[in-house]
Amino acid sequence: MDSFTGKLAVVTGGGSGMGRELVRQLAAQGCSVAACDLNADAVAEAAATARAGGPPGVQVSGHACDVSDEAQVLRFRDELLEEHASDHVDLVFSNAGIGGGSSFITDSRQEWERVFAVDWWGVYYCARAFLPLLIASGDGVLINTSSVNGLWASLGPGMPQTAYSTAKFAVRGFSEALIEDLRAHAPGVRVAVVLPGHVGTDIVANSLRARGLPAPEQMSDAQLEELIPAGARAGLIRAGLLAEGASAEQLRQMLVRMNTDFRDKAPVSAAEAATIILDAVRSGAWRILIGEDANMIDAAVRAKPEAAYDYAELFSPLARKPAAEAPEQ
Ligand SMILES: NC(=O)c1ccc[n+]([C@@H]2O[C@H](COP(=O)([O-])OP(=O)(O)OC[C@H]3O[C@@H](n4cnc5c(N)ncnc54)[C@H](O)[C@@H]3O)[C@@H](O)[C@H]2O)c1
Repeated sequence: MDSFTGKLAVVTGGGSGMGRELVRQLAAQGCSVAACDLNADAVAEAAATARAGGPPGVQVSGHACDVSDEAQVLRFRDELLEEHASDHVDLVFSNAGIGGGSSFITDSRQEWERVFAVDWWGVYYCARAFLPLLIASGDGVLINTSSVNGLWASLGPGMPQTAYSTAKFAVRGFSEALIEDLRAHAPGVRVAVVLPGHVGTDIVANSLRARGLPAPEQMSDAQLEELIPAGARAGLIRAGLLAEGASAEQLRQMLVRMNTDFRDKAPVSAAEAATIILDAVRSGAWRILIGEDANMIDAAVRAKPEAAYDYAELFSPLARKPAAEAPEQ
């Protein structure tokens, strides 16, 4: 596929971040898009912006859909086929995702399973619903978004990432397993897996919202207490992210900062990430790493698998980098 012009793409989680940028850039390149999101207002706005920026004839539709609910995914599929008057789709970007469920020990089972349901079952239900339509395209591509946490199941010392990593490993495993299956049984379709490092988006605030919580600024003391219980607070203090004896207001400000820093201080923007994904899909790549951090972690874990969770050892080549290689002042 060397051009997206005249194609029809599905994008899940199209209301924000990388999904919204994929919708915008695909439409600008002459590709019609059906985008869905849990946040109906956000996806309607993203669709309107993309439509305005696309050439005449490009159709962009926005749909409300929770990808962790199979009935809603099937309804989204039926809606989009009718709106776009199509019997197939050419590209499916299974991009919707949330963070959370960090600790299997201290986080609630309900939160853990919600993260797993969105990040794994969402990808699975979309593959079930859309693969027949990609096969009908004759030249279809399924693009599943995993993460650097699909290669490495931690965020570093004191920062477990269990539900998210479990789901993202599943997404990577499923996508890789489909390569041979598609070759053997559906040669008109190929699959790619996206493995982003840190990309600047609102995923921190959106993940809280997906759990029914307000933005960090508007969180009550009781909501903060439930979100970050004493054990987790102690971990944040040990990691130097929170002062000893911090007040509820200081905790609230830390969360606000985490959200804005995650978005504004990232090495790669959502727009840059979407461009990398689209260029890679056009080139035929199946393993799409985004950012130097993702490339570095991928190389380090493959070079020293047994040291994957011995952080000092895993990242020791970086610490030992000779002065000559240090960036110039
Ligand atoms: N931002 C990063 O650093 C990063 C790194 C690695 C992987 N990822 C992955 O990239 C993908 C996109 O993330 P992003 O950073 O652009 O986040 P984002 O929060 O900006 O966008 C994700 C969108 O998905 C939507 N969504 C959440 N749950 C949904 C559901 N159940 N059904 C439908 N839509 C739902 C959200 O409302 C949001 O609009 C996710 O799968 C995420 O896990 C992100």
